[in-house]
Amino acid sequence: MNLTSIFKIHFALYFAIFLTACSNQKLKEITTDSPDQNIKVKFELINNQPFYSVYYKETCLLLPSKLGFEFKNQAALDSNFLIQNIETSTINENWEQVWGENKKIINKFNQTLIHLKEISEPGRALKLEFKVYNDGIGFRYEIPEQEGVDSLFISNELTEFNFANDYNAWWIPANFDSYEALYSNNKISEIPSANTPFTAETLDNICICIHEANLTNYAGMTMLKVPGKSTSFKTELVPWPDGIKVKTKAPMLSPWRTIQIASSAAELAESNLILNLNEPNKIANVSWIQPMKYIGIWWGMHLGVNTWTLGERHGATTENMKKYIDFAAEHNIPAVLAEGWNTGWENWGAQHAFDFITPYEDFDLEAIADYAKNKGVQLIGHHETGGDAEYYEQKLEEAFSMYQKLGIKVVKTGYAGPIRPLGQHHHGQWMVNHYQKVVETAAKYHIMIDAHEPIKATGIRRTWPNMMTREGARGMEWNGWSDGNPPEHHTILPFTRNLAGPLDYTPGIFDIQYKNAGKRIKWNDQDKGTSRVNTTLAKQLALFVVFYSPLQMASDLIENYKDQPAFQFIEDVPVDWAETKVLNAKIGNYVTIARKDINSNDWFLGSITDENARTLEINLNFLDKDKSYIAEIYSDSENTDWKTNPIEIDIRQLSVIANDTIKLRLAPGGGQAIRFKVID
Ligand code: NOJ
Ligand code: CA
Repeated sequence: MNLTSIFKIHFALYFAIFLTACSNQKLKEITTDSPDQNIKVKFELINNQPFYSVYYKETCLLLPSKLGFEFKNQAALDSNFLIQNIETSTINENWEQVWGENKKIINKFNQTLIHLKEISEPGRALKLEFKVYNDGIGFRYEIPEQEGVDSLFISNELTEFNFANDYNAWWIPANFDSYEALYSNNKISEIPSANTPFTAETLDNICICIHEANLTNYAGMTMLKVPGKSTSFKTELVPWPDGIKVKTKAPMLSPWRTIQIASSAAELAESNLILNLNEPNKIANVSWIQPMKYIGIWWGMHLGVNTWTLGERHGATTENMKKYIDFAAEHNIPAVLAEGWNTGWENWGAQHAFDFITPYEDFDLEAIADYAKNKGVQLIGHHETGGDAEYYEQKLEEAFSMYQKLGIKVVKTGYAGPIRPLGQHHHGQWMVNHYQKVVETAAKYHIMIDAHEPIKATGIRRTWPNMMTREGARGMEWNGWSDGNPPEHHTILPFTRNLAGPLDYTPGIFDIQYKNAGKRIKWNDQDKGTSRVNTTLAKQLALFVVFYSPLQMASDLIENYKDQPAFQFIEDVPVDWAETKVLNAKIGNYVTIARKDINSNDWFLGSITDENARTLEINLNFLDKDKSYIAEIYSDSENTDWKTNPIEIDIRQLSVIANDTIKLRLAPGGGQAIRFKVID
């Protein structure tokens, strides 16, 4: 970590303690401002009950919203309070990411720590910590160690989000096991429940995103409409099988409740709030942590061309793997994934189905590992648990240790199925702890993680930078066997799911209508035989820039990349960035993102639209003023249309400098990808 400046002031307002002694009537509220003073959060006691409210440039965004807890084993902590003490501080520092969308992160905020105490017996203490940044607010609860409070069985977290108006919002329904849904756009009053990130927009384009940061040893948060209050949600934590939400003991720190706030959608997508609210990196030696692109034996199974199981159509064979490794070596792709390499797929969903150790007989793991090593290509391991996390925990050390011996540095995990122990949910406290255990165990073996069916991203990657990427959204696979993801989906994710952290969407399908797929055999109930990818080819390229992932898959069958000039963009595009700028955006309509390569002076741009064609004018002033560039442009052509003519693409070059403006023409369902290559 490289701290360039630290500015810290601590001044406790001790008079508050004095007030406590003589009266509990006086100090009832405290306001904390963001450093630029645009955002304010007001904490107050109303009839001795704690509430917070949120303002942006004098507009109230959240009206007084409840705070507190209910427990199974003691009285609620939600009323009967006085403010005992307040501590405030200001921090202004920089830190550096091991990898990411930006190398340097500014961590600048004002903080207020409020010590509450119950007025009457049992006189328990509760602390609330608010951090107010220029890009939003984080607050969390602390139940300190104290007499009479030991184990805590939280039955209900009472935190509310009481929106001041009936804003427009993008949401997926609350679900304790999956985030793989399409977003809807409704007025808040029409939304019964939601998973987070949950994003709302005011009539003046102020964007507000509710989420959480540093979710550890706690249940995931969903939002549930408060009965009779059409624009107010309460926290609904994902329960244990016995209905309790969180089992812990004092001292307890809750995850941060986050409210990202921005004057535009573009500004929202640049927020670093979630990362800033996590603990610094705990891995001392990070030399083994390397972002990379990959290809793999994967899409064939989703298309129904191959199988995960052994048999004639088995995808993960030694021969097939060698072809993928050869392709990777020839095309500058560092790694290859193999799914269906190990026994157990015939029992997918059953208890102890996978042992994570035994390869199928037609997959010579050691020979493949040797072959890859000789070609300078890495293998990506795969652990599908089918949801049997309990058994996976028993096998974890052995499985990671085997991969480490083979030189495998990345493992993709999966939890496609009901969780074991039965009755647990993917997003409950037990699984939050499981996912964390996997990341920490992997770190011991110098293994990076790509989690599918994960717990949502909450910025843990800062603390454990081997937690590279995750799914937790409706990704590419859905296009293989369902109605798929409509063109609009991609223009919503950057302002919802992706605010949480990297997404393993797996872009890069070139055979958009599966014309070269050969015989496909239906394997998924949702397959109506009409599946396809609902974008143009140029948009597939643009997604490599728009959706950030430090492990980024080019997901098509390699046959579909042969002799394709457009594949050059995938070869060139980096996965680690010095800097990111969101150039324009309208949630659900379009977005353009420019990112600077960490290893050169090149910039890359991705621009995408929904089902509507549009032309966007871009000012190139993000480029270095002293340099000249060749823009290598991959765009939809005149006649491209995602429905009728998706693969027509124009590839051309243009000399440009920072003073120029260019027009991006995007076809319906289209996109554009550009490499700005610096001329030395
Ligand atoms: C779901 C994952 O998202 C997908 O990538 C994987 O191929 C299957 N599960 C099988 O593990
Ligand atoms: Ca999935």
